[in-house]
Amino acid sequence: MTIFSRFNAVTTAAAASVLLSMCAAQADSFNIAVGDGAGGTQEALGKAFIAALEETTDHTASLFLNGQLGDEQATVNDLSIGTLDFSILAINNITPFSPSVGTLTLPYVILSLEDAITVTQGPIGQEMVENTVRDAGVRIIGWAYSGFRVLTNSARPVKTVADLEGLVIRVPPNEIMIATYKAWGVNPTPMAWSETFTGLQQKVVDGQDNPYITVYAMKFDEVQTYITNLRYLFSIEPLVVSEAVFQGLSSEDQAAVLAAGKSATDFSVQFLRNEEETIKAELVSRGMEISDPADNEAEFIKLATEAVWPQFYEPIGGVEKLNDVLTALGRDPVN
Ligand code: MLT
Repeated sequence: MTIFSRFNAVTTAAAASVLLSMCAAQADSFNIAVGDGAGGTQEALGKAFIAALEETTDHTASLFLNGQLGDEQATVNDLSIGTLDFSILAINNITPFSPSVGTLTLPYVILSLEDAITVTQGPIGQEMVENTVRDAGVRIIGWAYSGFRVLTNSARPVKTVADLEGLVIRVPPNEIMIATYKAWGVNPTPMAWSETFTGLQQKVVDGQDNPYITVYAMKFDEVQTYITNLRYLFSIEPLVVSEAVFQGLSSEDQAAVLAAGKSATDFSVQFLRNEEETIKAELVSRGMEISDPADNEAEFIKLATEAVWPQFYEPIGGVEKLNDVLTALGRDPVN
């Protein structure tokens, strides 16, 4: 269903009004784009959303995994014009369209699952929902939490910033993540998510970062050997609906969609808690080697926070936006 096809047959204002009231009650079949493969947090969120939606409404929905409906950033464009209904994607791939959510992409701001829940499910998260509707024409209706983005590579163990030297690292086309690797002395390669497996396989790039669950869902263990337990970015992956599609629903269906998103969010929390350690062990059993960063990551943290945070105060809406988050998390604000 798209907003365009729904209105296709309407030729007069009177007919449009009749058709609109019929459409409000008709059952739709929604398409949900999913960037990752089977077995990941995105699929889990999507399945939980569909189960709740189909239980409470006459609507149905289908997941299209592995970027079948387009790369994650491309789906934001499709949602904004109403040619796609829903998408599940990493927050870093929404940031280019709505820079205020970049607060969630700044390195070492979200330091745990509990931090992620506090920020996304409280007033700050609600403000981000409103900002993405305004800036990008997409409405966040659910949040998946995937864990820290660990660094993987095919060349050697990485424990220090110096160990990164000479490695070609893929990052999403996201200015904050690019700046973070530059702070660590690496000029990273921005690459669309849909091209990343092939890029790693063909050794166009040596490494990338994503959570354990995503590494597993994308089968990166087939093309990567070394993992570094970086904790610079806690991956948050929203379920978003096209605002045009959302506004075409009856108020009862809008409420049902929001409730299904909330129930899928709750499921996602349990999914991460239940699955992350098992998946980590599975990746080790498949031959991946895990290292912790030296000195509790101190050098990575210092370089990234000092160099990157100030560069992005303006795009995120001012230093006070970062301070709102830090204060909500019980941490000291920056000056
Ligand atoms: C990316 O690295 O582009 C995304 O974080 C991947 C994802 O959605 O899992």
